[in-house]
Formats: sequence, C-alpha cells, structure tokens
Amino acid sequence: MSYNTKDIKIPWEFKKFNQNVELQRAVIEVFGGCNYTCQMCPQSNPGRGKDFTRKMPLETFKKVLDKIVPKFGTPQINLEGSGEPTMAKDLPEYIKEVKKRGLKCFMYCNGARLNGKFMRDVIDAGIDFVRFSMIGYDKEQYKRWMNIDNFELIKSNIDEMADYIKESKSNCEISTYHLVLDNNREKEIIDLYKKNIVEKVKADKSYIWRMHNWSGNYDNKNPREIKKKTSCGRPFAPEITVRAGGLDGKTASVVPCCQTLGPPNEAKSVLGHLDTQSFEEVYFGDKYTKLREAHTLNKYEEVDYCKNCDFLYQSEEVLAWTNDKNARINNMLGTGDDFILTDFNKDRMEK
Ligand SMILES: C[S@@+](CC[C@H](N)C(=O)[O-])C[C@H]1O[C@@H](n2cnc3c(N)ncnc32)[C@H](O)[C@@H]1O
Ligand code: SF4
Repeated sequence: MSYNTKDIKIPWEFKKFNQNVELQRAVIEVFGGCNYTCQMCPQSNPGRGKDFTRKMPLETFKKVLDKIVPKFGTPQINLEGSGEPTMAKDLPEYIKEVKKRGLKCFMYCNGARLNGKFMRDVIDAGIDFVRFSMIGYDKEQYKRWMNIDNFELIKSNIDEMADYIKESKSNCEISTYHLVLDNNREKEIIDLYKKNIVEKVKADKSYIWRMHNWSGNYDNKNPREIKKKTSCGRPFAPEITVRAGGLDGKTASVVPCCQTLGPPNEAKSVLGHLDTQSFEEVYFGDKYTKLREAHTLNKYEEVDYCKNCDFLYQSEEVLAWTNDKNARINNMLGTGDDFILTDFNKDRMEK
C-alpha cells in the first residue's frame, strides 16, 4: 500500500510499521471490571459487557509481555486499560513481572483498595507511578460523580501510601487526577480541587482535565468545540492498548486506544487478540493498517468507532490545570519527548 505524503504530514513513514517499531508505552489491562460505578464512565454507564470485564490471567499477561519485549522496545507498562487494576488480588505479581523485564510500571486507579498490606505489597513489588482518580472536589461532589462515599478514604489512602513510600525508600510517585465537572465553572472548580485535595494530600503531582466522550460511547454534557476533524494521532503512536477480555471467548484483545471503552465501540474496535496472534500479525495487520490509512486520509467516517470521537477535535484547553511542569497534552504520562500524538497535524488544524 502506498501513501501520498506530499500534502499530508504523517509522523512516521508507514514503512516503519513493518520494521523497527520501538514501543514507548503498552497499556495492558490486568482487570476489565470495576468496583465503582462512576456516572461519566461507560464502564458503569451503560456497562461494559461481560466479554471485557474479566481478569487477564497472569500467564497471559506474561505471554503478552514476552511477545513485545525486547523485540519491539522496552515500553512503559500501564496496568489499567480501562478497568480497575486493584481488583486483581495478586496485582503485585503482575508488577513484579514488569519490573523483572526492566520496564517502568504505571497504574491509574480509583485507589479505594490501596491501603494496608495490599498497598505495601504493591509498592514493594516496585511500581513506579500511581495515579488516584478523584472526580469531585469535595465529599458531596465525589459521591455524586463516583457514586460512593469514599472522599475521605481516598485522601487517607494517598497519605498512607506516601508515608510508606518514604519509609520504604521507594521511588514511586503519586499523582491525583480530576475532571472539570462543568466547563462553565472551570476556574471555580479548579480552585476547589486545589484547596480541598491538591494542597491537602501528599501527592507529588495533580492533573485536572476536561471530560471526553469515550469515542462517542458517552454523552458528554461538556462537549469539546466542534471543529474540522483531524487525526488524534493514536493510530501512529509508538504504543499498544491491550484489553483483559476480547471477542468470542478470546482474551488480550488489541484496540486502537483507551477511548473505545464500552458499548458499542469497544467490540467494533478490536484489531486482533494477543492470546492467539503474534504482535506482528496484529500491529501490522489489515485492520490496523486500514485504521492508519483512514487517519492519514482524514476519512474518519469510514471508521465506525472513530467517527464520533471528540479526540478528533484538537483542543489545547483539555488539560485545564496541572502542577507537573513536564505535562503536555500531546504526550502520554511517562513517555519520552518524541512521543507526540498530534503536533504533526498542527498545520491542518482549524483555529
Ligand atoms: C476508566 S478509568 C480506569 C482506571 C481506574 N478504574 C480509575 O478510576 O482510574 C480511567 C480514567 O478515566 C477517567 N474518566 C472517566 N470518565 C471520563 C470522562 N468522561 N472524561 C475524562 N476522563 C474520564 C477516570 O476518572 C479515570 O481516571
Ligand atoms: S479517533 Fe478516538 S477512537 Fe479513534 S483512535 Fe483516536 S482516540 Fe481512539
């Protein structure tokens, strides 16, 4: 297949996808289900579906790692996907497998289970970065958005973890993650998050983002501004997203990004399964190639799971506030400076 790159800038030559892919990040979901029912998340609203809410067996997780590392780089491994990784009781074993291979290990979680021995085992296993999602700037708002009265518990879990990190001389970093609940009250909401959480807990960094629409699966009441659609950059990025579940009883399905979570787009967006296929078969396979082609040629309507995604509307305001000086909207937490999702598209963006 050939591409005319004269008018369209793409970040990597396509031939690179048949050669030396150096992944910088692999999001490998350890557990597909969740112990929370947050209202802005398709995981609970409308519900993810049993094909995807399973646990990835440790043996499959190891198999997936070995298909990637070191042949396709030494990527950072994120354990969340879009389920809740702390639901896996043997989570420390997964972290140890990552660290055994010399890779960075990140985890985004709601953090409700991260205390006591389980939390200490997670830290002792060598995790490098833990992000606590706290949606809601006080007890009432947290309960409203995350549907559980755990505001004080999570703050206490963060501090307990920070104390243990210090005591055990771990290098793990803790961050908190928040969402703007109403774009019309953004400044006020940022100030409340800062006052009630950021300045109160012992986290190293905090991020406040605007909500997205989960590739169209979620009816976002705070939508991004409609603009000309340009590629989100994800189909070209040096990363891979692997779900715990999959289609037809298979596991370790590969999807293009984290955004297709839930029905109807998750099942539609499966590009292959790493339980039975090789990395090469999936990453350089027909489905992935068609997706990259559509994003290169701006033919998003041809991709059913991309066409309603608000990541196609570039917006510099999506990161509303952070105290992390290295954070950039086109980059993924923990990846290198050359991991850029959308800069290549700047000249095609409508201001
Ligand atoms: C689906 S969760 C999975 C990981 C884990 N269960 C957690 O709560 O962090 C991934 C992240 O997406 C965030 N999230 C949920 N709905 C969102 C939305 N509509 N827009 C932006 N982020 C959202 C969650 O708060 C969480 O930080
Ligand atoms: S357009 Fe949306 S659904 Fe499609 S690859 Fe990008 S982020 Fe994922």
